[in-house]
Amino acid sequence: MSAPTPTPALRCTNVVKRFGDFEAVKDVSLEVRHGEIFALLGPNGAGKTTLIGCITGLGRATSGSIEVFGFDVQKDFRITRRLVGLVPQEINFDPFLSPYQSLLVQQGLMGRKPDPARAEALLETFSLSDHRDAYSRHLSGGMKRRLLVAKALVHHPKLLFLDEPTAGVDVELRKELWDEVRRLRDEGTTIVLTTHYLEEAEMLADRIGVLRKGELLVVEDRETMLARGGGDKRLEDIFVQLVRDGAKEAAE
Ligand SMILES: Nc1ncnc2c1ncn2[C@@H]1O[C@H](COP(=O)(O)OP(=O)(O)O)[C@@H](O)[C@H]1O
Ligand SMILES: [Mg+2]
Repeated sequence: MSAPTPTPALRCTNVVKRFGDFEAVKDVSLEVRHGEIFALLGPNGAGKTTLIGCITGLGRATSGSIEVFGFDVQKDFRITRRLVGLVPQEINFDPFLSPYQSLLVQQGLMGRKPDPARAEALLETFSLSDHRDAYSRHLSGGMKRRLLVAKALVHHPKLLFLDEPTAGVDVELRKELWDEVRRLRDEGTTIVLTTHYLEEAEMLADRIGVLRKGELLVVEDRETMLARGGGDKRLEDIFVQLVRDGAKEAAE
């Protein structure tokens, strides 16, 4: 991991996101350090995707502030959108474009000149070269996932969000993605990963945050969190306990 810098990769301060009367994100304050893999865990509906949307510019926080490498995501949007990459939870590319075309289009969307060499290199990295010119809709599920990751990387983001990248993905591809995530981290990319596969966080994360019903219950480094179980519990059991305790506290 690179040396900590005074400016974190991400700083959320008292972030609230409401949809009408419903508060999907409740007063979340959180820092993600430069160069770490941060796992954001939480049951379905906890607010993970909503929070990521506020950071990446898909949505707007109702209140609070969000900074990426010290830049405000609303005021300095032109800067932050280029610093951030997002692998969305939902597959979202044009089914009629080929992987190669998708990458070139994405370069344009990110305000870059067409860079065929970069596109080819990403296809190579993600084992998509053989399908370079196929319709994206004809790709297998695993290839679609890999193309999503490749697309998120066209502009060399320094902070990458992976929103449940391995949901419904087979074991082999999951392992490939883990290797890729580690490789990106080793190159200096800061990574925020959401998942509900606890083993994934246990394998990959430097630090872990647990979100429940929009509230950030705890943020700890992996070892500290694992030590909550006296060293012999899996993260999964610790997580279930945390979420349950959170529910009890809320009821009191
Ligand atoms: N556009 C929206 N309008 C109304 N409610 C929403 C919207 N987007 C998300 N929500 C609600 O916000 C909560 C958090 O959703 P989400 O961020 O998708 O959770 P997660 O990603 O942790 O599963 C859920 O209760 C969801 O139904
Ligand atoms: Mg989600």
